[in-house]
Amino acid sequence: MRLTATSLSKAYHGHVVVDIPNVSFGTHGLEGLIGPNGAGKSTLMGLLTRRIAPTSGEIALENEAGTHELNALQSHDVARIGLIKTNQRIQGFDGLSIRDNLALSATSSDREGLSSIFDRTRDAEDIEARVAALLEQFSFADPDGSAKSGGEKKLLDILRCLVAQPTMLLMDEPTAGLPDDITQSVMELVRKKVDAGEMSVVIVEHDLPMIWKYCDYVHFLSEGQMLFEGTPDDVRENRVVAEKYMGV
Ligand SMILES: Nc1ncnc2c1ncn2[C@@H]1O[C@H](COP(=O)(O)OP(=O)(O)O)[C@@H](O)[C@H]1O
Ligand SMILES: [Mg+2]
Repeated sequence: MRLTATSLSKAYHGHVVVDIPNVSFGTHGLEGLIGPNGAGKSTLMGLLTRRIAPTSGEIALENEAGTHELNALQSHDVARIGLIKTNQRIQGFDGLSIRDNLALSATSSDREGLSSIFDRTRDAEDIEARVAALLEQFSFADPDGSAKSGGEKKLLDILRCLVAQPTMLLMDEPTAGLPDDITQSVMELVRKKVDAGEMSVVIVEHDLPMIWKYCDYVHFLSEGQMLFEGTPDDVRENRVVAEKYMGV
């Protein structure tokens, strides 16, 4: 799994907010993307998932099925080839229970087409079991009602992405607003799936201790430019990162 951007830029009203000659994600397991407020992290994630149209540049996703040029795709097609981003607005799902929301996300991820009725019955059982397991691990006040608090909505968004079994998951400040114990559980689950080779992850996070704890590799973005990348130790010890971000 490899997501590569080449000559990628985005400008708003002539003001360049992302300008990246070359970057790739997905080959280091759990990757962090850090940088000051306004650095362009969210814009970059939007560009990578085709939610934001680039001013210039190409994006390609390589997986077992081959190389997909993302410029030719709409954002919903991007999700279908396994590239999903959290922290999206939950659209059209508000009337559904938490359980049905998760089941629908799991179903929509199944490769469409050629499965027999036997396969579909087995798939439905499999989905029900996957959803039940998640609801056992993460407790909601009422899983058969809708998500109520902001925290429940945020957790549901993350779980919906996970149950869809992406090959690459982009997480934009996923745990801001979640209690610490749930944040840890989410990160442990993400780590487990990455270690099992089920997916690659890029996570934007301001909580640096969490980045150092969970990430295998970190990218540093500042004023729209990728200034440094390396292991957490490399990044922590880098002078440019320290000057531009850690206020040293
Ligand atoms: N839709 C938009 N229109 C104009 N400027 C935008 C828009 N979205 C983001 N920006 C600007 O782009 C820069 C990068 O924003 P963003 O990607 O949200 O940064 P980050 O996620 O790193 O905090 C900021 O200066 C922001 O004000
Ligand atoms: Mg942001």
